[in-house]
Amino acid sequence: MCRGLAAIGTTGVLAREDGHMISRGSMLDAILEGLGDGVFIIDRNFQILEANSYARQIHGIEGEELKGCHCYEVSHGFDEPCWITAPLHHRCPVLEAMETGSVSRAVHIHNDGHGGVKYVELIAFPVKSPDGEVDKVVEIIRDITEQKLMEERIARVERLETIGTLAGGIAHDLNNILTPIMGNAEMAMMELGSSHPVRARLEAIFSAARRAATLIEHILAFSGRHRIETREVALNEVVENLMPFLKGVLPSSGAIELEFRPGQGLPSISADLAQLEEVLINLVVNARDAILRKGDGGAITIETSMVSLYDEKCYTCGFQMRGDHVRMSVTDDGEGMSDHVKARIFEPFFTTKEIGKGTGLGLAAVTGIVHQHLGHITCDSVPGDGTTFSIYFPAG
Ligand SMILES: Nc1ncnc2c1ncn2[C@@H]1O[C@H](COP(=O)(O)OP(=O)(O)OP(=O)(O)O)[C@@H](O)[C@H]1O
Ligand SMILES: [Mg+2]
Repeated sequence: MCRGLAAIGTTGVLAREDGHMISRGSMLDAILEGLGDGVFIIDRNFQILEANSYARQIHGIEGEELKGCHCYEVSHGFDEPCWITAPLHHRCPVLEAMETGSVSRAVHIHNDGHGGVKYVELIAFPVKSPDGEVDKVVEIIRDITEQKLMEERIARVERLETIGTLAGGIAHDLNNILTPIMGNAEMAMMELGSSHPVRARLEAIFSAARRAATLIEHILAFSGRHRIETREVALNEVVENLMPFLKGVLPSSGAIELEFRPGQGLPSISADLAQLEEVLINLVVNARDAILRKGDGGAITIETSMVSLYDEKCYTCGFQMRGDHVRMSVTDDGEGMSDHVKARIFEPFFTTKEIGKGTGLGLAAVTGIVHQHLGHITCDSVPGDGTTFSIYFPAG
């Protein structure tokens, strides 16, 4: 017999050598509560017989009694078992363990009880009654949300890299084709003079080619193949000088206020002035559109500050940002974004604007420019409340 345990009584009471008596039930309860995973014990009617605190925590129903509730109500908010309500989406490991008598595993998305979801890995162990029938299932529920989000983030970064390489290659070649088209159209216009009847056609060619060139510029910026010329610039000065232009892109009614709150004592950053302005213009135009989509008016705030980062991750490259950075953020109180939209905003050609209203290249270009400056970008958004884009440039 192992040390310390003197006898196991038929009553389920464990007698220890130190004289203390503990019941088997209370020992099992303590084990269940101590586990780092959620546990449901479920009967053949899919009713929960036992649930430990961690299972309650995962489903956001702490403190409430779960005994007697159906597992499909708690996990998915369904009125009927998952295999009736959503048979194609839910291979139910509890049902499988009951039917096959074997251990069954699955990854599901469960309600977190606060309007969100948790990714959970489920392992269902069948428990047999003395007559050999499975009459219960012990379901272990492991919260793998963090891991899933990390996988999604890595997949998103890899997808963006692949698209960037492909798009950058095409844009580079197209640029080479476009240069002689624009150059020759311009020279022909000069040679023909302003009154020649063919001039209007040449002007149409030239302006279409220029629109194409702007698109290509954005793609090159996104793919990091843009030639940038950096020099030491004072970020506050750049923003201050651009303010009149930025105000010019807002509605003339004055319904949208634009404020600049410069941080004090910022070091200069190494940047390409024109590209930096491009970033600001894109962010402010997006902020304006988000405010107009929500209603008639609102506020946009540009802030600069010095920050020391330890734990923050870049939303687009996935790298951990560490050390001193100069931050430039653009905040609006516009319509905000759902997580679904937010996950795709940096993809080139992703837009929620009407056809013809947006190319979906603005943020893709911003990302490329920021990364070429060895900077990072994050986005915080609350649907209905607004959005903040923050850009971090290495300080010094
Ligand atoms: N501040 C913001 N608030 C809410 N949604 C935003 C904001 N900024 C960007 N978005 C979302 O991200 C999408 C992509 O933005 P992006 O700037 O890349 O392209 P676009 O603005 O749609 O088109 P373009 O920049 O070519 O005019 C937008 O269509 C919008 O759905
Ligand atoms: Mg845009």
